[in-house]
Amino acid sequence: MYCLAGDEAVRATNDDASECKRCAVNLGYWQDKFINFFIKAGERKAPEINRGYYARCTAVSLLIEKFLLKAGAEQCQILNFGAGFDTLYWRLKSNGHIVKNFIELDFPTVTAKKCYAIKRNKTLLEQIHSEDGEVKFSPTDLHAANYHLVGVDLRQLSEVQKKLADSEIDWNAPTLLLAECVLVYVEPEHIRSLLSFLSSKLPTAYFINYEQVNMEDRFGQIMLSNLRARGCSLAGVDACRDLASQQRRFLDTGWDGSKTWTMEEVWNALPREDRNRIEKIEFLDENELLQQLFHHYCISVGWKEQGPRLSLSELQFDSQT
Ligand SMILES: C[S@@+](CC[C@H](N)C(=O)[O-])C[C@H]1O[C@@H](n2cnc3c(N)ncnc32)[C@H](O)[C@@H]1O
Repeated sequence: MYCLAGDEAVRATNDDASECKRCAVNLGYWQDKFINFFIKAGERKAPEINRGYYARCTAVSLLIEKFLLKAGAEQCQILNFGAGFDTLYWRLKSNGHIVKNFIELDFPTVTAKKCYAIKRNKTLLEQIHSEDGEVKFSPTDLHAANYHLVGVDLRQLSEVQKKLADSEIDWNAPTLLLAECVLVYVEPEHIRSLLSFLSSKLPTAYFINYEQVNMEDRFGQIMLSNLRARGCSLAGVDACRDLASQQRRFLDTGWDGSKTWTMEEVWNALPREDRNRIEKIEFLDENELLQQLFHHYCISVGWKEQGPRLSLSELQFDSQT
């Protein structure tokens, strides 16, 4: 039913994202002791790409840490949709954040590679081992005490439900949901079903979505044609029209509230000393290009707050909130 070449191209975006992260990490933008275990070094990326990845990874990590602080990490679960080779589980754990449960979902071909990388790497494997549980591997899935990696197509909601049940999801636990550069590849009707399902099941939840925005202007159209030239269909791009369309996606699917920031706003809200450090790592020839990129990516969040009052609508990128 779906164009195989298109799905293949979408899966390949994970290699690209992982290479970009590895490049920025190795240049000193931020610390990640685990990314090199998942992906080989690629070409050096342009400074504006490295800075863009820094802004996104730092901002997403800040929101996650604030959520865990409010809700109490050991009570919380994290669901990472289209997780690719994300190292969040290992980074959180090495920073002392041990969550109740952590579930990663991606296409089976991607999770198979991630399973393989974890299985043959002692450092990665050690972190998911616990005294009271064995680690179960299948070619595409991995189940450990509080870490689960499952292969599934997000467009198949009943399969997603089954995989979440296999991963011991607790529908009553405060839940942080994450999708970084994922929803844009999925047809809107499937995202609607997924978001409606999640909002109907979770009383306390915070969904962080990072992806394109302002796609209707000239720069946005060029970005889209570049992605399409690589075979990606961008089936979900309608929600990336503007900030309002990003928020509507949550508000129309049963979430209590939603907010969106362009990456320009996010960058300006990050602590000044961090931005000063980053600006010294590489000279930026193309400041105009970076500003354009920041204007065409956003973080949008949606929250559900039917349980304990955590004031999730107040989470911000600065050091105060
Ligand atoms: C650009 S990568 C981002 C990976 C990771 N979130 C990150 O930020 O590094 C997009 C990921 O979404 C996954 N993805 C896209 N559509 C999907 C679908 N229908 N089902 C499962 N995974 C999907 C791809 O396989 C890929 O790993």
